[in-house]
Amino acid sequence: MGQERWHSMMQYSEVINRVNSFINSLLRENMDVYRASAHLISAGGKRLRPLLTVRFYESLGGTADDIIEAAAAVELIHSFTLVHDDIMDNDEYRRGVPTVHKVFGTPKAILAGDLLFAEAYRALLMSKILNFYPDRFFWSTRVLTENVVMICEGQDMDLTPPKEFNESFYYDLIRRKTSALFVASALIGVYASGKKEYENAARTYGDSFGIAFQIVDDLLGIIGDPDETGKPVGSDIREGKMTLPISTAINMADKELKAKIMRVYGKPSSDEEMKEIVDRVKSMQLEEHVLNVANAYAKSALNALEKIPESDSKRNLEELVELAIRRKK
Ligand code: IPE
Ligand code: IPE
Ligand code: MG
Ligand code: MG
Repeated sequence: MGQERWHSMMQYSEVINRVNSFINSLLRENMDVYRASAHLISAGGKRLRPLLTVRFYESLGGTADDIIEAAAAVELIHSFTLVHDDIMDNDEYRRGVPTVHKVFGTPKAILAGDLLFAEAYRALLMSKILNFYPDRFFWSTRVLTENVVMICEGQDMDLTPPKEFNESFYYDLIRRKTSALFVASALIGVYASGKKEYENAARTYGDSFGIAFQIVDDLLGIIGDPDETGKPVGSDIREGKMTLPISTAINMADKELKAKIMRVYGKPSSDEEMKEIVDRVKSMQLEEHVLNVANAYAKSALNALEKIPESDSKRNLEELVELAIRRKK
């Protein structure tokens, strides 16, 4: 599924356009730090996290108009983490364009990440609904802050993983680096609605969805099509990441393929060399195996919505999980 598929859906594009306009309004100053921040935002992205905020808020009785700033806040945090993540991972492409540090240099990219982080809190401060209800503002700011701290912990774990693949470390890591922001995005929608009794539903949905999403991301990090993902072929193998799909591939591989993978794992390699490995991994039905695991988490995310009242917004929350599992980028 291409990005067009997400954005071509009217129910998504309307909200996404409003979130984008608001974010753009924060980044218009004539300075490199603003241009560097806008570079990533204007290159695309699915805007999945702000959709979670808006759809949870709507499914508990709110209207999208009131929650755009808070939804933008989670996307700004996401953008900040991506700019810094690409520096940490030494990645040259994201969303099909050169990464911020490749275009503006690392010092300005660090600064752009800092700005996006601060703009996220500015966006929260500009949210009328949150400002009208001090308790909702407090809960939302608290959950965002606590979960950004968790992202930093997850990124630390990602940079210094254990030598051998360790399943519990992997899940602990992806919960922090990815699920944390899904949880915060969903919970801000719940908190803004004032219906705190749904916080467990949002928490479980965000946690399970985030895990399923990152497993699929890690799968795409091996077998993804660079034209779709906007990242080079076999990017996670080359970077020496220890993900569930990489570990599964190594376990499934015969001796010869295992040796080939280990030769390029965490080291520079030619695209041809990597392509041969990726083609062989694809033929072992790695995808089917890994998607089974992702699907179990997707199911738990869907189950978590059980008590949320039926509505189009709730159906959107369900559909987003399904789209994310089937995505190609
Ligand atoms: C990328 O997130 C980082 C991960 C947590 C896997 P997305 O896949 O949502 O990135 P964009 O915003 O669509 O580019
Ligand atoms: C990104 O993780 C997660 C955060 C930015 C917090 P990855 O490094 O696995 O994601 P991609 O593949 O670069 O998008
Ligand atoms: Mg990365
Ligand atoms: Mg990373």
